[in-house]
Amino acid sequence: MCSIVNFNMNGVVKTFPVVYGTLHEKAINISTLREQTGYITLDPGFKNTGIAKSSISFVDGERGILLYRGYPIEQIIQKCTFLETSYLLLNGELPNDNQLDHFSEMINQCNLNNNTKILQICKNYPINSHPMGILSSLSCILEFMQEENNNNYIHLLATLPILAALIYRTKNGLFPVKYDNNLCYTSNILNMFFAKKTNNYQQNPIIVDALDKLLILHADHEQNCSTTTVRLLSSAHVSIYASISAGISALWGRLHGGANQAVIEMLENILQNGGNIHKWIEKAKNKKDPFRLMGFGHRIYKNFDPRAIIIKQVAENIINKLKFNNPILKLAKELEEVAIHDSYFIEKKLYPNIDFYSGIIYKAIGIPKDMFTVMFALGRLPGWIAHWKEMRLNNEPLVRPRQIYVGYRKRNIV
Ligand code: SDX
Repeated sequence: MCSIVNFNMNGVVKTFPVVYGTLHEKAINISTLREQTGYITLDPGFKNTGIAKSSISFVDGERGILLYRGYPIEQIIQKCTFLETSYLLLNGELPNDNQLDHFSEMINQCNLNNNTKILQICKNYPINSHPMGILSSLSCILEFMQEENNNNYIHLLATLPILAALIYRTKNGLFPVKYDNNLCYTSNILNMFFAKKTNNYQQNPIIVDALDKLLILHADHEQNCSTTTVRLLSSAHVSIYASISAGISALWGRLHGGANQAVIEMLENILQNGGNIHKWIEKAKNKKDPFRLMGFGHRIYKNFDPRAIIIKQVAENIINKLKFNNPILKLAKELEEVAIHDSYFIEKKLYPNIDFYSGIIYKAIGIPKDMFTVMFALGRLPGWIAHWKEMRLNNEPLVRPRQIYVGYRKRNIV
């Protein structure tokens, strides 16, 4: 393996070191490029640019592989809970029984149950506020709601789901439900969302398992838009709470995490307009038409997204077992079948991504569309925290890219 590359810049050879990753990735370290040559690189969307070295997750887009700290997502989804996965992403290793018990206990202690202020704040947002906007702003305030000597990471993991449930219940005029230390992490989320006045939510193991799997599948995914946003703020030494707030806002975008809400709205729209799949596929292929097939395509995956394959199985399982008679899964499967055999999608390597089927499961669980991306954020939280931590531990420099200026030359005000 060569350790340097030589660039012939107008007859003068410049040498740059090569960096190799653990799994066959390689990069040219151009940190001295401008100093040596006067040139910078230009790479819109950073499609060819690495922001840093990282050991948290690995994606092979050509082969449809996803590893969390080296473990294949297919094994994690079979053998781990979301809490164990969160511990793994944060600490680099899976917890033993004692470590998991302690982790769980620490999370239980940060339950906000005695905090009346947060409910007042929640009630004062404009009624049409989107839950992602509320969650982003509330996560900034969390920093000032800690009990003494809380661990920030644990505090965030414990309280973000509580905020999510509070946002859902306040928007629906329901009373707040306290965190219940007798329930596991994922069952608590369901109970805080759906408990009735008289009794706790009846925990259906099929639903608990489906939600736990969804949280795991969303937990981390290298340098996606929202994770890189969190890393960027970490590089400026912004607090983890404000960094997570920015990550939530970045995830809200419909090209990113907001796609899960957009997929269901697209599928419902197709159904309401007669369900003519071929018409919508043609619209998606038409350059002049702004319509895109939401839930399809990915910057990195040029093969099936391994998470989409698992989510489709989870969706089929929960729909069959709960006898969820919404025609939306059938339409989604038909749409996928047509698209993956269409030359446009084949040539451009557009496959279903994580957002294509996830909304079908959220809908079956009873979560409203405007909360779908909030659920994505709850899953992605441990990944964001791990990346924020890694930037600081690796003492990464302030992120401040260059640009190529194409504006006016210097001129005087007349
Ligand atoms: C997530 O990065 C991550 O890891 C993200 C994520 C995570 O876990 O964090 O995986 C989560 O955000 C998944 C993506 C969710 N977004 C969507 O489903 C929105 C629909 N998808 C597209 O907008 C698009 O595929 C992107 C934004 C996801 C990726 O786009 P790229 O990599 O910038 O590529 P592109 O837009 O330049 O598309 C390449 C070509 C274009 O055609 P040409 O200009 O070459 O002729 O493919 C076409 C696009 O028009 N294309 C699509 C399409 N996606 C791309 N055409 C129709 N429908 C689509 N969905």
